[in-house]
Amino acid sequence: MNADELKKQAAARAIDLVRPGMRLGLGTGSTAKHFVDLLGVKVASGFDVLCVATSEVTQAQALSLGIPMSTLDETPELDLTVDGADELDPQLRLIKGGGAALLREKIVAAASARMIVIADDGKLVQRLGRFPLPIEVVPFGLEATRRAVVAAIAASGAAGDLVLRRRPDGEVLLTDGGHYILDAHLGAIAEPERLAQALNMVPGVVEHGLFIGLASGAILAGADGLTILGRVE
Ligand code: 5RP
Repeated sequence: MNADELKKQAAARAIDLVRPGMRLGLGTGSTAKHFVDLLGVKVASGFDVLCVATSEVTQAQALSLGIPMSTLDETPELDLTVDGADELDPQLRLIKGGGAALLREKIVAAASARMIVIADDGKLVQRLGRFPLPIEVVPFGLEATRRAVVAAIAASGAAGDLVLRRRPDGEVLLTDGGHYILDAHLGAIAEPERLAQALNMVPGVVEHGLFIGLASGAILAGADGLTILGRVE
């Protein structure tokens, strides 16, 4: 079974968690896309939900499927967010932002009573950091912010190169919020909490892709079936 089929299986299990009348956060990425597709099928048969998207891409997908959409201004408290991840460890600490949606993803997850991660089991790692950590920064003062980020990473005991993310056409990538992303190639993050705190202190850093204490459970699909981490019900 390929990774995309596994992602779909994880998404299908997460659909079972959705109850009528729920206010849902919709994630971003190829795994979350499966979840939104399956939710669209439910909605088409009359199922009642109200959703908030974590990106313009997900918003467009959900609207195209007829899913009722809201905003965090109109609906500031959500029951459940279902989203993918680039990496997760056994303590449900995540790296997110491979799809450049980390800022909205974190705001939506934080506004949700529960966040459930859906992924293929290749995303599970013993130590975070093999996937480059996305750090969203404002364009103003980029070089000064970059140097401060390098210092924060060093102070937290980590090390690695920072790469300004570009689109396939070579242009600097802009997030939905109009920011840049620096991808930190750290290899391994010994103390994710310490690094997260250090990055939170840097002016110019809007958000980073370490999601700590946000996910309550994870549904991981592998060749031998589904694995549940934490609580999903
Ligand atoms: C987007 C994300 C995605 O959840 C993450 O990149 C996983 O994507 P995929 O499901 O395509 O593997 O954080 O910002």
